[in-house]
Amino acid sequence: MSSLLVDDIGELVTNEPGGEGGPLGIRRGVALLVEDGRVAWIGPSRDAPAADRRLDARGAAVLPGFVDSHAHLVFAGDRAAEFAARMAGQPYTGGGIRTTVGATRAAGDDELRATVRRLRDEALRQGTTTMEIKSGYGLTVADEARSLRIAAEVSEETTFLGAHVVPAEYADRPDDYVGLVCGPMLAAAAPHARWIDVFCERGAFDVDHARAILACGQAVGLGVRVHANQLGPGPGVQLGVELGAASVDHCTHLTDADVDALASTRVDGGHTTVATLLPGAEFSTRSPYPDARRLLDAGVTVALATDCNPGSSYTSSMPFCVALAVREMRMTPAEAVWAATAGGARALRRDDIGRLGVGALADLIVLDAPSHLHLAYRPGVPLIRQVLRNGVLQ
Ligand code: NIG
Ligand code: FE
Repeated sequence: MSSLLVDDIGELVTNEPGGEGGPLGIRRGVALLVEDGRVAWIGPSRDAPAADRRLDARGAAVLPGFVDSHAHLVFAGDRAAEFAARMAGQPYTGGGIRTTVGATRAAGDDELRATVRRLRDEALRQGTTTMEIKSGYGLTVADEARSLRIAAEVSEETTFLGAHVVPAEYADRPDDYVGLVCGPMLAAAAPHARWIDVFCERGAFDVDHARAILACGQAVGLGVRVHANQLGPGPGVQLGVELGAASVDHCTHLTDADVDALASTRVDGGHTTVATLLPGAEFSTRSPYPDARRLLDAGVTVALATDCNPGSSYTSSMPFCVALAVREMRMTPAEAVWAATAGGARALRRDDIGRLGVGALADLIVLDAPSHLHLAYRPGVPLIRQVLRNGVLQ
C-alpha cells in the first residue's frame, strides 16, 4: 500500500459539507493523505500521519480535478475556415457536422486514436481528470462502433451519439436511419458505451425520433443524456426530464416550463436531471449565453463542460469555461468551480469524483494560485501546476 501526503495546502476545496464557502466546503491549514489512489484522511497539518512520499503544495489552492461531462473527441480534420466565416458574420447551424463525418469516416483508426489522446492529454494538463467522450461523427454501424472502442481506451465515460445528425445518405428517409440507430448500430455500440445521447433540435432529430432512440438505449442499460435547446426553444429539455436523463446539455433557450421541469427533478431522489451549460459553444458561435442565474435561482443543479468538438467549441479548457461562466453568465466563482467539478460528477451520476472527501478518488489539482477565485480572476493563464489522477502525479 503506497501513501502520499499532500501538505501545506493554502485552501482545500472539498465540495463536502462543512468548511467555508457554502457548497465548496473550503478548509485551510489541512493536509490530505492519499492511499491506493483514494483520499484516506484529511485533517490539520500538525496531525498528519506518516506517508511514503510528500507533495508540498507551497500554500497553493488544491481542488478536485475538473469533470468534463460533455466532449466530442473522436473526429478527423478541423473546421477553422467555418469558424473564420462565423466570425465574419455567418450563423452556426450545425450543418458542418456532416463535413466532420466525411473526414472521420475517411480516417484510419490510428489517426482517430491520436486525436483522442492528444485532446485528452491537453485537457489533463488543464486539470481535467474525468472526460466524457461521445461518438457521433461516424454515423455508420462500423464507424460508430470504432469511435466508441477508441474512446473507451481512454475513458470509462463513453456516450453513443449515433443520433447526432441524419447522415447525407439517409437525408430523404430519416425513419430508416432511426431504425438503423436503434437496431444494428446500438447493438454494435452498446458494449463500448455507458450513455446514449441524441441531438434533439430542429434540423437534427425531432422529439418522437429522439424519444424512440433514447428509449432503445435505456432498454439495453445505457443512461440518458440529451443535446437540448441549443439553437432555439424546443422539447429536448422536457424529454430529458421525462426519461430521467442524468443531464440535458446546452440549455441555451429555455421556457419557464423547462426551468420548472428541471427544478422539479431536485426532489426526486437519485434522479436529478442536471443542466449542463457549455459556454465554449456560445463563445465560438458568437451566440447569447444560457441564463445560468435563472437556473441556479430556481434550484436546478448546474454543471459546466467544454463541449470540445471541431465545430461549435474547439476548446478542451475547463478553466476557460469557468472564466466564461463567471464573466458572461453571472455565475459566482464558487458556483462555477462547483459546477465544473461536483456538477460534472452529478451529470455523470458519479459520487467518487468531483469531491475531495475520504473514500473519493484522489483526482486533484494544485493551482499556481492561492485560491480557486484565480481561475476566473486570471483568465487565459495556465494556472494548473500539478494534476493527480488516482493519486498518481500526471
Ligand atoms: O454539441 N450540437 C451538436 N453537436 C455539437 C456540435 C458539433 C459540430 O458542430 O461539429 C455541439 O455543439
Ligand atoms: Fe455537444
